[in-house]
Order: sequence, then structure tokens, then C-alpha cells
Amino acid sequence: MTTMPSGPVLDKGLANTIASDSRMSFIDGQQGILEYVGVDIDSLARHSTFEETVFLLWNCRLPKKSELDGLVAQIRAEYDIPAPMWDLIRAVPKDAVPMHVLRTLVSALSMFDPEVDDASPEANQRKAVRLLAKTPTLIANFDRHRKGKPFVKPDASLDMAANFLKMLNGEPATATMARALDVCLILHADHGFNASTFAALVTISTLSDLYSAITTAIGTLKGPLHGGANEAVMHLLDEIGDMSNVESVIRGRLERKEKIMGFGHRVYKAYDPRATYLKTFAKKLAEDTGNLKLYEMSSKIEEIMAAAVGARGILPNVDFYSATTYYSIGLQVDLFTPMFAMSRIAGWVGHCIEQLADNKLIRPRCEYTGPHGVKYVPIDDR
Ligand code: ACO
Repeated sequence: MTTMPSGPVLDKGLANTIASDSRMSFIDGQQGILEYVGVDIDSLARHSTFEETVFLLWNCRLPKKSELDGLVAQIRAEYDIPAPMWDLIRAVPKDAVPMHVLRTLVSALSMFDPEVDDASPEANQRKAVRLLAKTPTLIANFDRHRKGKPFVKPDASLDMAANFLKMLNGEPATATMARALDVCLILHADHGFNASTFAALVTISTLSDLYSAITTAIGTLKGPLHGGANEAVMHLLDEIGDMSNVESVIRGRLERKEKIMGFGHRVYKAYDPRATYLKTFAKKLAEDTGNLKLYEMSSKIEEIMAAAVGARGILPNVDFYSATTYYSIGLQVDLFTPMFAMSRIAGWVGHCIEQLADNKLIRPRCEYTGPHGVKYVPIDDR
């Protein structure tokens, strides 16, 4: 960090900047602790549901039963998408990348929401529910469209995870798979001022609308240094192919100073608590489905990384074991990051609403490093 003459501090990557405050999630990167509004992430993964976690994040307390029932009813009532959106999905090229599709379709949803530019807290709450509830319908039905399968309408008798899997596969999911996805949604729901949340906050801080903020966030999540890492992990496992190749591929990459996706974190220098949970979960799912190969290869990668760079705090992050978990649930690789988005919408909108309650335009400075006093020379004389 260096200090500019006028006072502000140059902090590339904002690694040492606290941009604002939040009541939503607490992260202790040295101890490996993550809490949503004070509730430990492990307890939530074991005992909560995604919908209850959403209530917690949006209201900063756990709900009473009637309050949870109320939110669940609101979400389910918003599962379906406006009629023209089905035509829009049909118009999407079948080979489009799902994250591009999601970003575009979420942006398009705004045109069918009469409250899009109503910034009252009540309207924002309703839009938050709509964004959360409709995203699974967009993702699942784009996947059906690209596979040439008929659309499946959402089922309002199911929770978000089971409803998504039913739309995706055209048949009800087993309770184990629906719960597995539910837990993944809980674990990915919020994480402080990560890159995509911060991007959403920059957008909402200009007093733009919630759809614009979430569209910004989806574009930011897509990158392989952020949410896109879960897909990159799967591509790495594919490239390795077999247990016998793990050592040579990982060591080769490290020697070439290439990053191993799914490892390292800006905040965690201890084991990411979400990865702790997902590791056990990935193993259980792999055993249940009888396909342990990817889990065993992942374990071996972790072992090699621990010996090589573990002491520097480069440990598995949430994306590493979520890759094998999503694979066991039967999701296609390019849907992994959309799954992350489907969950993180909870955090994105929660933070945006928090920002609006005490808004200040987010507008940092940059340190100019170009020349001064350059004479303008007419183009023909250059
Ligand atoms: N594999 C190997 N080396 C790594 C890794 C990795 N995955 N991550 C960091 N390092 C090394 C870097 O090469 C660098 O080494 P150097 O000091 O010798 O140059 C050092 O650790 C610091 O790395 P930075 O990238 O500068 O650290 P930063 O805090 O900016 O990065 C990040 C955090 C982007 C997550 C990084 O660890 C990374 O690129 N990981 C791989 C991508 C990934 O898994 N992203 C998902 C993160 S979780 C999430 O967003 C949901």
C-alpha cells in the first residue's frame, strides 16, 4: 500500500479496504469461521433449509414458523416467469454459455416487472423474491431448450432445490439429491463483500435498480477467479483423467506457476469452512452414487497441494469440493456456476437492500500514472 499525496491509500485489489459495514455474514479467515448473522455455517448446513437461510440473511434473525411459511409461500408464488420469457428462452442459441444466458435472461426479466424502478423498500423486497424465485426456472428451462426437450413449468408444491431439479430433469428428484442441492444453496448464499457482491453494490449505490445490480453481479461471478472456479475444477479433473496422472499434472502446473483452481482465497488463510462441509458431503454423495473416482482424485490433489503450498494458506475453497458435489447431483459442468448464482442472489439482494438503507455512492479514486502537459499535435503533423 502506498499513500497518495491527497490522503487516500492506493490498495490494488482492495485487499486492505473495508468498503462499508454489513450485518449479514461474518468471516474470520485466520480461524476458518463463517457465520450468517451470527449463526455458524455448519449448523445451517446441517439443520436449516435454503429458504430459512434466505429469511435469516434478509431479516437478520431466524424466522418463527409462520414467518418462514410466509416467505416460502411468496417465493413459490413467484416461480413462474412472464409468458414472453419462455419465447426469449426459445430464441437463445442452443450452444450459448449458461452464465451468458443467465445474465441476459435476468436482465430481460426487468422489462416485465412493473416495479422495476420503484425503489421503495416494499417494492425491493418483492423484487428480491422474484429474482430469487425465477432464476431456477430460467436456468433449468434453458438447459431443457438446448437439449431439445419440452419446457417443464415450476412446481409450487416443492422447495427451491427440489423444484429446480424437477424442472431440469423432468422428473422428481430423490430426497437425497434435493437435500444435497439445498445444502449447496445454503453454503453459497452469502460471503461478505466478495467480488460479485461488491460489483452489485457499486451498481445499486448509483441508485440504479435491483435487476441491474444482479445482472452486474452475475457477470462478475462468471470469472474463473471467482464463481467460475467450480467449473474450472471439473475441467481440471477431466484433464487429469485418472488417479495415476494426478501427481504429474498438479506438480507440472505448480512448476509452471499456474494456479490450481478451487484453491486459495483472498480472505481464508485457514480451511474454508464451506469446503470442510462440502468435502464430507462430496464423499458421502460419491459413496451413495457408487462413483468415488472424482472424489478420490480430488483428495489426492488436496494432499499434494497441502504439502506444496498449504503452509502459505493456499487451501481448498468452496469451489473445490462443490465441483464433485454438483457432479454427483448429476448437473452438467456448465451449470455449476449458475447454481452458485441461484444461491448467491440471496446475498446479492440482501446486501443491495442494506446498501440502500444507508447509501453512499461507491466511487474510489485511481492514482494517475500517465504524463502531464502533453502538447496537442494536429493529426497530420504526428
Ligand atoms: N494455486 C496455486 N497458487 C496460488 C493459488 C492457487 N489456486 N492461489 C494463489 N496462489 C499463489 C499465487 O500464485 C501467488 O503466489 P506468488 O506470491 O508466489 O506470486 C500467491 O498465492 C497469492 O495469490 P494471489 O492470486 O495474488 O492472491 P489473491 O488473494 O489475489 O487471490 C484468489 C485469491 C484469486 C482466489 C486466488 O487464490 C486464485 O486465483 N485461486 C484460484 C481460483 C479460485 O479457486 N477462485 C475461487 C475463489 S472462492 C470464490 O470466489 C467463490
